[in-house]
Amino acid sequence: MIFDKSYESLERALTVIPTGSQTFSKSHLQYPKGCSPQFIERGNGSRVWDVDGNEYIDMVNSLMAISLGYNDPDVNEAVIAQLSKGVSFSLPTELEYELAQRLVDLIPCAEKVRFGKNGTDATSAAVRLARAYTGRDKIAVCGYHGWQDWYIGTTARHLGVPEDVRNLTDSVPYNDLYALEELLSGEKYAAFIMELTNVSAPEPGYLEGVREVTERTGTVLVFDEIVTGFHFALGGAQEYFGVTPDLSTFGKGMANGMPISAIVGKDHIMKMMDDIFFSGTFGGEALSIAASIATIDKMKREPVIEHLWSSGKALYDDVFRIVNDNGLQQQIGIVGYDPWKIMTFKDYKDVSGMAIRTFVQKEMIAQGVLFLVSHNMSYAFTDEDHKQVVEAYKNTFEKLADYLKAGTLIQNLNCPVIEPIFNVRKT
Ligand SMILES: Cc1ncc(COP(=O)(O)O)c(C=O)c1O
Repeated sequence: MIFDKSYESLERALTVIPTGSQTFSKSHLQYPKGCSPQFIERGNGSRVWDVDGNEYIDMVNSLMAISLGYNDPDVNEAVIAQLSKGVSFSLPTELEYELAQRLVDLIPCAEKVRFGKNGTDATSAAVRLARAYTGRDKIAVCGYHGWQDWYIGTTARHLGVPEDVRNLTDSVPYNDLYALEELLSGEKYAAFIMELTNVSAPEPGYLEGVREVTERTGTVLVFDEIVTGFHFALGGAQEYFGVTPDLSTFGKGMANGMPISAIVGKDHIMKMMDDIFFSGTFGGEALSIAASIATIDKMKREPVIEHLWSSGKALYDDVFRIVNDNGLQQQIGIVGYDPWKIMTFKDYKDVSGMAIRTFVQKEMIAQGVLFLVSHNMSYAFTDEDHKQVVEAYKNTFEKLADYLKAGTLIQNLNCPVIEPIFNVRKT
């Protein structure tokens, strides 16, 4: 594969765009240097084409924002129809009610709804709302929740976040109910915001325990469903696991790539939206709302969620077998749930897990599979795609096993090892 145009464009972009991208995980920092595409030109169904004309099955799917597939005809039709009427107006549109009502009908905790653009809008609104509702300042977090000060201050990439703000948020390990109980029973916390699951499955009783502890301590429980929403079930992972929070946040897959997020929740908390300030020029932007209605209606009409599970499981089963066939179980883990399986990479002797990840990414890309570290399933993923991806894994893992055994992986990498941004989801 040739990536000449990609790297020319990257060089040009870097002259005026720091990082060359608006999203860390889409930037050159996250793909093997010299051996991967840097810019996409178009997408259709499960596939994308880069600026050099190379074709890929896209396992990243815009970091889970593409849930149906690229260029979905139903979503396109809704967006085009709305485009001829207008995009942003001086008053709200009735579409906002249409979408809000759908979320209320589908999501267990949703009695009231507000919209934002990025997931971070919704999680930050939830935090402000919880602080207003409880009169408390401190926040407990578990997972990844976006770029704002209140969350990113808890990570290694906290440059620019004031110390006083950092001191207001504490991170709690997943599946550790004891740690949560200790934290929340000591000082008073406004909210506990968590991803219901990412690299680990909840232990039996954990999510129910979280619900009980937060209720007992008067802490607002927020389930961050930016990823799990419209992937695990139409009502999100809270429907799948059967535990209902006070507030919840959605984004990514709810409009098949159009920029919209939502905060939903119980009426008695959400009604304080009247008193806090959560307001933006584009919160009611009509193309994204029309796209979201079309996406959700398609998900209700067709077996979209079932497909995310069944195609994700079929892929996992085959990849797991190939990992085992090549004796790589110590180096490669595949964790999480079928619509969103995440691959983990562990060191082998003096070869780092990141070097192994870099090699896997490079080899998958060379065989026409755009891969970051996970299977972000979409409705457009076909049996043909499955065969091609499995074949690519087979070739990649056979080579990986040989090179690791021979101690020649680094020689065969031909590119620098990727540096982690920070470990968002720890195993
Ligand atoms: C669980 C979770 N919450 C929040 C966010 C932030 O969403 P956004 O990047 O759209 O602001 C993300 C983004 O990856 C996420 O995965």
